[in-house]
Amino acid sequence: GVDKKILVIPGDGIGQEVTTWGRKVLETIATNYKHNFTFEEGIMGHVAIEATGNPLPDETLDKARKSDAILFGAIGHAKYDNDPTLKVRPEQGLLKIRKELGLYANLRPIKLFDELLEASSIKPEILRGADILFFRELTGDVYFGEKKRTEDRNTASDLMIYHKYEVERIARKAFEAARTRRKKLCSVDKANVLEASRLWREVVQALEKEYTDVEVEHMFIDNAAMQLVKDPKRFDVVVTGNLFGDILTDEASQIAGSMGMLASASVGDSVGFYEPIHGSAHDIAGKGIANPLASILSAALMLDISFGLKNESLRVIKAVEATLKQGFRTMDIANKHTENHLVMGTDAMGAKVLENLS
Ligand code: NAD
Ligand code: IPM
Ligand code: MN
Repeated sequence: GVDKKILVIPGDGIGQEVTTWGRKVLETIATNYKHNFTFEEGIMGHVAIEATGNPLPDETLDKARKSDAILFGAIGHAKYDNDPTLKVRPEQGLLKIRKELGLYANLRPIKLFDELLEASSIKPEILRGADILFFRELTGDVYFGEKKRTEDRNTASDLMIYHKYEVERIARKAFEAARTRRKKLCSVDKANVLEASRLWREVVQALEKEYTDVEVEHMFIDNAAMQLVKDPKRFDVVVTGNLFGDILTDEASQIAGSMGMLASASVGDSVGFYEPIHGSAHDIAGKGIANPLASILSAALMLDISFGLKNESLRVIKAVEATLKQGFRTMDIANKHTENHLVMGTDAMGAKVLENLS
């Protein structure tokens, strides 16, 4: 077995509810396969602001640097969403940890389980067979460019900025991944309008000469948003900037049936960071009904990408699949058209996955 130190950062809202199950799955895998996983917890987001005044306390960042992988839930609280004037905000914690750990590549696989064909708002015949891997750039773009507000408070700006090396390193990862899949890469930008996108396109075009075995397509973000629901099967690997990738992948969650199904892996300079793509979901937080599968599938990504434990990772995915085959559903993926589904809460669903792991 292997020895690994895992930092768990549940965060806020449903982040706490679902991360419990990502962790339990890791614990079960450790037991079943005789690995030694040790766990620590860290705070971030609203809970950290309440406790320390800082959305990312140094202590959490230190623990993150010393760990082999991080399992994160979600951050965010209605208080800040409803008051844009607040200066200290939960999201700053997440952005800071991504930057500090050099997590520039955010992999968001869009994996549709056959059992969920009917759960999506998209027609099953359009969806069947869809399988997309998004590479969202995560430490640049308008997220990290200079922010300004005039003294009279009437004008504001956020700088959209990319450096060549930032585009190149994420594009390389996407090209490499395309090589192991269907060898198709779609680069999404807004090069007809934005200078940062024209740099993006130039850099990707230059790399095409090195990866001649990969078929490359360049698409504008507005068209990509449309094509994604018109014909998701046309996409294999998609690479795009931070903001476009944020928006496109929430849209793409409908291909997998729900936000509650989408896991992600953020990698780059050192440690890997694993999290659902969804947020703290104020509308359902505290009700015990959030879907824990995105957190569980994030744990599966950790086993594979950070620890190289492919069998263990596959075992988790199979357990999720088996749970869905048995008809167990959380509310977000319950199929309105058939009766033979048992709709349950977060803990019951998580427990079913654990049963299927043993
Ligand atoms: P959200 O992702 O929290 O929720 C969007 C919708 O999806 C809601 O209707 C929610 O109920 C549903 N949903 C999300 N996850 C689900 C799950 N596991 N099971 C069932 N349904 C699920 O996005 P939002 O409402 O725009 O944002 C809420 C807060 O979360 C904000 O403060 C935002 O800043 C924050 N946020 C954080 C992250 C993160 O931590 N990575 C990501 C997105 C949003
Ligand atoms: C995500 C979230 C974050 C982002 C927010 C909460 C900063 O939406 O992880 O997708 O925009 O990156
Ligand atoms: Mn997002």
